Amino acid sequence: MKCLSRLAIPALALSTVAAAQELHPVGNIFNPQGTPAESVYRLSLLVIAVCAAIFLVVAGLLTFTIMRFVRRRNADDNREPAQVYGSNRIEVAWTVIPILIVVVLTMATARAVVTIQNKRVPADALHATVIGHQWWWEIRYPDLGIVTANELHVPVSSVDRPTLTFLRLESADVAHSFWVPQLSGKTDLIPNRINSMWIDPKQEGIFLGNCAEYCGMQHANMLLRVVVQSPGDFEKWAAAQKLKAASDADSARSTFLSLSCISCHTVSGTAAAGTFGPDLSHLMSRATLGSGVIPNTPENLRSWVKDPQAIKPGNLMPNMQLNSRELDQVVAYLGSLK
Ligand code: CUA
Repeated sequence: MKCLSRLAIPALALSTVAAAQELHPVGNIFNPQGTPAESVYRLSLLVIAVCAAIFLVVAGLLTFTIMRFVRRRNADDNREPAQVYGSNRIEVAWTVIPILIVVVLTMATARAVVTIQNKRVPADALHATVIGHQWWWEIRYPDLGIVTANELHVPVSSVDRPTLTFLRLESADVAHSFWVPQLSGKTDLIPNRINSMWIDPKQEGIFLGNCAEYCGMQHANMLLRVVVQSPGDFEKWAAAQKLKAASDADSARSTFLSLSCISCHTVSGTAAAGTFGPDLSHLMSRATLGSGVIPNTPENLRSWVKDPQAIKPGNLMPNMQLNSRELDQVVAYLGSLK
C-alpha cells in the first residue's frame, strides 16, 4: 500500500504537469531565443555534462565492483577480497576533485550572472514596468503612456536592428517571479524592492511564461505571454493602446459605469479609474482572460464576468451577482473596447 502511494504521488504530479503543459505549454529552456536564455542554456549544458560524467564514473565503478566481487555459486573459494583500510591517495582524490568541480561550476555561473547583470542598457532600449499581483501581471510602458495586463508586447531584436527591452520588476503584494524560459532566466518580483532584467527576443512570435515563485492559491494560473513583434507591428500596437478607450456602445457604457466594476478597473477617458484590477481600456486587444487561463472569446468573457470564481477560484474579483440584463450590457461594453 505504502509502495503504491509512493508511486501514485509522482504519477499524479506528472499527469498534472502534463495537463497544465497541454493548456499552456511553457517554453523549452533548450530552445533559447534571446541572449540571457542562451547563456542559461550553455551553462545548463555544462552542468549536465559534469553531472553525466560523475554519474558514469560512479555507476561504472559500482557495476564493475558488483560484477568483479560477486560471490559465485559453487565457488570453493570463500575468502573475502582484500580489505583496504585508509588510503591517503584516494582520500585526497575524493576531496580535491569535488572541490575543483564546485569551483568550476561556481566560476561559470558567476560569469554568466555577471555578464547578464552588468549589461549596459542602450539609450534606445524600450522600458517596461511589470508589477506582480495575486494572480496577474500589470504591465506599464512609462515612456509610451501605456497600461495593459498579462501580455507583454516587445519588438523583435534582429541582427541589423538589435532592440533590448529593459524590465523593471515590482510587486503589489507578495513575492512573484518573472519567468519566460525561452527569453531569460527567472527574476523575482519582491514587495518594496525594485528588481530588473532585460530581454532581446531574436524571433517574432508568442513566448509563454509563468510565475515561478509560489504566491498563493492561483500561483499556477499566473500565466504570462510575451508577444514579440516586428518593429512596425509593435508601433501599430502601441499607437492603438495609447488611444483613449473608444466605445460605440453608449447604453452599455452607462450600465458599466454605474456598477462597482469601476472601483477596481480603469477604462481610460471614463470615470472608471480603479487600479486594483487589470486596466480594461483595450481589453479586446488581449488574447486571453484571467491572466492566461482562458481564451478571450465572447462566451468566455461572459462566463468570467458572471462568475470569475468558477473559472479561477480564490482570485480577487468577486462574483458581482449581475442580473442577465446587466451582464449583457457589461459584456457588450467590454466587447467594444478594442
Ligand atoms: Cu505569482 Cu506565483
